[in-house]
Amino acid sequence: MKVSVIGAGNVGATCADVIAHKELANEVVLLDIKENFAEGKALDMWQTSPINMYDSRVVGSTNDYSKTANSEVVVITSGLPRKPGMSRDDLIATNAGIVKSVTENVIKYSPNAKIIIVSNPLDVMTYCAYLTAKIPSNRVFGMAGILDTARYKAFLATELQVSPKDIQAVLMGGHGDTMVPLPRYTTVGGIPVTELIEKSKLDAIIERTKKGGGEIVNLLGTSAWYAPGAAAAQMVEAIVRDQKRIFPVCAWLTGQYGLKDIYLGVPVVLGKDGIEKIIELQLTKEEQELCNNSAKAVKEVMSVLDNMNVVA
Ligand code: NAI
Ligand code: 2OP
Repeated sequence: MKVSVIGAGNVGATCADVIAHKELANEVVLLDIKENFAEGKALDMWQTSPINMYDSRVVGSTNDYSKTANSEVVVITSGLPRKPGMSRDDLIATNAGIVKSVTENVIKYSPNAKIIIVSNPLDVMTYCAYLTAKIPSNRVFGMAGILDTARYKAFLATELQVSPKDIQAVLMGGHGDTMVPLPRYTTVGGIPVTELIEKSKLDAIIERTKKGGGEIVNLLGTSAWYAPGAAAAQMVEAIVRDQKRIFPVCAWLTGQYGLKDIYLGVPVVLGKDGIEKIIELQLTKEEQELCNNSAKAVKEVMSVLDNMNVVA
C-alpha cells in the first residue's frame, strides 16, 4: 500500500517522515517540483530506517507522478507558506494554480485516492482540489482542525499543568482567525474544562489558539511544520488503519449546521472511505452564530477563487 505526499518542503517532509516512522504504508512517495529536492529528502529519511527501526520504503520524485500511481492516500502540501505580515488568504492566487495542477496529476495516476489538502488558504484550497478532482467529497478534505485543536490542547496543558493526552476538544469553522473552539465540548480527564480554569484564562487561550499559526510565523519567519505534518499523518493513519477516529476536518457541507456548498471544519468520522460521517452537534445559538460568521469569511474567499476562474 502506497501513500504519497506532494510538496517535500517543511510540512510535506515532516508528514512523510511520520508516516514512514509509523509504518503507515509499505511505500511513501515524496514528490516536489524542485529538481532532486524530494529525492534528497527521501534518501535522508530512508537512512533513518535502521535507526528508527521501520521498513516503509521512502521514495523521492521530481514531478514524476507515475511514481505516485495507485496511492491509497495523497497529502497535498505544495504551495507557498506565509511570511510575517501575510494572511493565509494572501496566498490564494499562487497556491490555487499549484493545487489545481497537482490535483490533476494526482487523480490521473490515483483515481481512487483519498486526498488530504494542507496548502493554504486551507478551506479554499480544499474547495479548489474538489472542483478539480471531480470525485465524491468524502474523498477530498482538508487538514486544519487537528492542528488547531492540538494548539488549543497544548496551551491548556501548559496552563493547567496536566498531560496533553488527557485533553479532549472539538473545534469548528474555517482555518483562520474566525475558527470556533468549543469550551462546552472541552474536557480534561473527563472533567469539563470550565470547572478547572477561570473564564478569563480560557478566553485568552481561545484567542491565542485562533492566532496560533501567526504566532509561529512571527517567531520563525515562515509557518509551522512539526504539528501540521504530524496532524496530516494522523489523518492518514485513521484512513489506512480504518480507525473511524473522530476529528475536526475541513469537509464539504451539504446542509449540515444549516450550511451548504462550503468547505468548513466540522467533526467527522475518518476511516477507510475517507469522511464516513459528518457529526452534527446541537450547537447553542451563540456557537451557531460563531460558525455562521466563520462560514461567511470562508465563502468570501471561495468567491475570490470562483471569480479567478482558475478551475474550469
Ligand atoms: P515549503 O515552502 O517548505 O514547501 C512547499 C513545497 O511545495 C516546496 O518544496 C515547493 O518546491 C513545493 N511546490 C511548489 N509548487 C509545487 C508544484 N507545482 N508541485 C510540487 N511541489 C511544489 O512550505 P511548507 O511550510 O511546507 O507549507 C506548505 C503549505 O502548507 C503552505 O501553503 C502553508 O501555508 C500550508 N500550511 C497549512 C497548514 C494547515 O494547517 N492547513 C499548516 C502549515 C502550513
Ligand atoms: C498554520 O496554522 C500557517 O496554516 C498555518 O500554522
